[in-house]
Amino acid sequence: MSTSTSSLGDLPVHRIGFGAMQLAGPGVFGPPADPEACRAVLRRAVELGVDHIDTAQFYGPDVVNDLIRETLHPYPEGVRLVTKVGAERDDQGAWVMASRPEQLRAQVEANLRSLRVERLDLVNLRRQERDHPEADEAPLADQLGALADLREEGKLALVGVSSVGAETVRTAIETVGIGQVQNPYSLLDRSDADVLELCRRHDVAYVPYFPLGSAFTGGPAALAADPHVSSVAAKHGVTPSQVALAWLLAQYDRLLLIPGTKSVAHLEENMAVLEVDLDADDLAALERVEPVRVGP
Ligand SMILES: NC(=O)c1ccc[n+]([C@@H]2O[C@H](COP(=O)([O-])OP(=O)(O)OC[C@H]3O[C@@H](n4cnc5c(N)ncnc54)[C@H](OP(=O)(O)O)[C@@H]3O)[C@@H](O)[C@H]2O)c1
Repeated sequence: MSTSTSSLGDLPVHRIGFGAMQLAGPGVFGPPADPEACRAVLRRAVELGVDHIDTAQFYGPDVVNDLIRETLHPYPEGVRLVTKVGAERDDQGAWVMASRPEQLRAQVEANLRSLRVERLDLVNLRRQERDHPEADEAPLADQLGALADLREEGKLALVGVSSVGAETVRTAIETVGIGQVQNPYSLLDRSDADVLELCRRHDVAYVPYFPLGSAFTGGPAALAADPHVSSVAAKHGVTPSQVALAWLLAQYDRLLLIPGTKSVAHLEENMAVLEVDLDADDLAALERVEPVRVGP
């Protein structure tokens, strides 16, 4: 069985957290069809021991942070709220880069207000360098400097980086120090192995997003269709998604999961993944899963 706790910087957290992006409406835009069902998921998550919730003001926008505050505030002792800055949404829901230092500061302030906290536990700088390398992004040093200033002012405890390559991770570790790297990684997309290795070497928490290969491109269905995943799932009497999450946990003891779901049943399955004990034969079989290009 995988160890159940790890930490973000020196803040202890359960290794299975919750990613709240799925609680917004379709395309992460607007309200969900059933807000009460989303509140039930959040309540059940905390009941089951989730103490690491990943969110963003631009999920909805505003919708997801509002749901979290309405449902969970005042937050139970030890619950860590992690957000990300660097983007906003236009009227049609398009994702717009907003990562100049003054925009990052405004987004941190907006998250503080909407989540109703004095200090955010961790704020990820969400860069465009992986998806849009041509984007005219503000200099990394200025962005990290803005977040380090906010940390100095007590508005956030830890800085993180998201959607970044190895060079940015190295720079962030050496200049401001970071509490996590949040990049896409799953059985279906292992292209971030170099950054994961860098996190292992520097003892930094690694938080894979799209851990089930991304809902946008049918990740959970692709996992279920893979013969290696389904045979390991059948052997353990668990689901293909549980195998994919257990495989992630086995990669690094400071890897923290934040699977996203709108469903209490899926949440309960995801929380049970610590009990899925993959052996060396399982891990070897899973290495043969055919990677697919997932995620926007
Ligand atoms: N930094 C970034 O740029 C970035 C980007 C994307 C996401 N994130 C964060 O990372 C978190 C995780 O990413 P994600 O939610 O997009 O992950 P994902 O890999 O796309 O997984 C979510 C999808 O899996 C389904 N699912 C969840 N548990 C399942 C289970 N046990 N069995 C079958 N299907 C299951 C969900 O559907 P149901 O609702 O039906 O369960 C949803 O369709 C997000 O919530 C967000 O907080 C960060």
